[in-house]
Order: sequence, then C-alpha cells, then structure tokens
Amino acid sequence: MLTKSAVINNYLPAKLKAGSSASAYAPSNIALCKYWGKRNLELNLPTNGSLSISLGKLGTTTYIKAADCDSLSLNQQALDNDSKFARKVFAFVNLFRREQDLPLAISTENTIPTAAGLASSASGFAALMLALDKFFALNLPTNVLSAFARMGSGSACRSLHHGFVKWQAGSSDDGMDSFGEKIDCNWQQFCIGLVKIDTRQKKVNSTQGMLRTLETSQLYRAWPQQASRDLATIHQAILERDFEKLGQTAEHNAMSMHATMISAYPPLLYWQAKSIDAMEKVWQLRADNIPVYFTMDAGPNLKLLFCHQQQSLIEKQFANIEIIRPFAALADK
Ligand code: PMV
Repeated sequence: MLTKSAVINNYLPAKLKAGSSASAYAPSNIALCKYWGKRNLELNLPTNGSLSISLGKLGTTTYIKAADCDSLSLNQQALDNDSKFARKVFAFVNLFRREQDLPLAISTENTIPTAAGLASSASGFAALMLALDKFFALNLPTNVLSAFARMGSGSACRSLHHGFVKWQAGSSDDGMDSFGEKIDCNWQQFCIGLVKIDTRQKKVNSTQGMLRTLETSQLYRAWPQQASRDLATIHQAILERDFEKLGQTAEHNAMSMHATMISAYPPLLYWQAKSIDAMEKVWQLRADNIPVYFTMDAGPNLKLLFCHQQQSLIEKQFANIEIIRPFAALADK
C-alpha cells in the first residue's frame, strides 16, 4: 500500500528552499452531504464523495517562521511538543521536511469560537498546508494542496475553498484524484446556525467512528449509494438555488449517516436529549411553514440551514445560536 510520504514525495523537490516566514488562512466547513467511511486509512480516501459549505471568516490562520527549534502555539498559548496536537502537526510537517533539518515555529489561531462545537481540524490542516506551500515556495496547484491536506484530516480537503465545495471520492491508488473543488455559486441569502448542545470533546472521534460503523453496521451497506444520490441532488439544488430541495436532502443525509452509526456495535449515539429537543423544534417550525432544516456531524450539536429572511425568527427560537452568512462574509472581506 502507498504511504503518505511516498505520494507527497513525488511532488517535492529533492531539496526544499525554506523562506523566513509565511502565513495562510482557511475557512472551516460543514458537510451537507457527509463523508462517512474510508476506503484507505493511510491516505484518508473516502468511500463516498461529499459536499460542504465553507464558513467564511470562521476558520484558522497559521503562521510559520524559521526558528532554532520546533515549537507550536494554539491561540497564543505555547503547546508541549509532546502533546497530541503538536505530534499530529509535526508528523504532517515532516512529510514535507523529510530528513532536512529545518526547525519551525508554528502558530495557529482559530476564529472558530472554541466553544462552538465545530472541529477545527479541517481549517487547521488546510491553513497549515497553504502556509507550508508558501514557506517552502512549492507553488503546488490547489488540487494537489487539497489532496495533501486530506491526508492530515479528510474534511480539510474541502477547506481549500470558500463557498460550496465538492469532494469527489476518486478512484486512483495514490488518491490524487480525491480533492475538493469549488462549485461556482454565490448564494447571499444562505445561512448556517450553530446550535450548541455540548461542546466538550467527543469520546469517539470520527476516524474511530467510521471504522466501527464500516466493520459492524449492516445499514452501512446502503450508505455509499445514498450518499452518491444525495451528492448529485444537493449539487443540482445549489445550481437551481432550490433551498427546500437542498435542506431536505441534507437533513435526510445526516439522519441516514447517524442511522449507520446507531446500528454499529457497540452503538455510536452522538445525540443527547437536547439534540432531539432541537430537532423537534426544527420539525415544528417546518410544520408552521418556516423553511429551516438541520445537519449534524459526529457530535450532539445541530447546524441549522435557512435563508436570511428567517434569521430574526430563528434567533428568537434558539437561544445562543451563532449565525454565519458564508457568502455575505465573503463580500465584505
Ligand atoms: O475529516 P474528519 O476525519 O474529521 O471527518 C469528518 C466527518 C463528518 O464531520 C462526520 C462528516 C463530514 O463530511 O465532515
């Protein structure tokens, strides 16, 4: 089986040219059609394609500087080089440095509120990849950078772009046809609302959750076909600006993914009682003709999908909701 370093090595010069400093920003993203299941664990290749919306100004900025020794800080706090986070970051950096002695001071800053219940690994690996590309003057094409970011965290390949992004599963052994691509669309009215139920770190992370589901859930067998249908439907709904079709399909897709998790053994139930209360509230709003839908990832928090006209009504219904207008945020950047 191909390793990450074997794949990446093909794109690197024998000797890297290090600059003195570089920085880059990448947005976080929320999947509307979910990535759930890996066909290749080493390269983070998915069993199905997925589609996401990037969160504009909510994301990660990474700064890299040449230094005397490796160091890492997160939101201005120095981290131990032995911490789990630092080991993950430097393992990724080493795929590029290889045996060259190029110590780096890396600082990473999230504009994703730490208590938002949003994973920062997608924007984190995307920003790190972009900063490394600049620092080492690699000038790699975006598709290649996206495929490399994927090896840090699957969903990171979708954070290389703003707006709606499609990640094709791909079929090649080295995974270089599995990257995120921007969908051309500027949907100013489109809103995401983060409903925070519990923002503590989850007990079973997404990689472990995917493995367990793949190995033990009979329902998972139906997932790749459904995901591929949903991907096509959501893509079409985006092109047609058909909000209801997009919302319905995204909500059904998320619930179907959770059905595969619940039918794994031991079962994976990320929901809490308050998650279900929030789902019921969304369904009641729809019964009252308010077009609002939700999606959920491997955690208890809901992400609401609605159009700007509904914003004040939604704010009244959900205390502490955090609202993002991904396209409006881009306009005033
Ligand atoms: O990129 P990862 O390994 O954190 O996995 C993300 C999995 C989901 O958030 C559940 C779905 C998705 O497509 O983002």
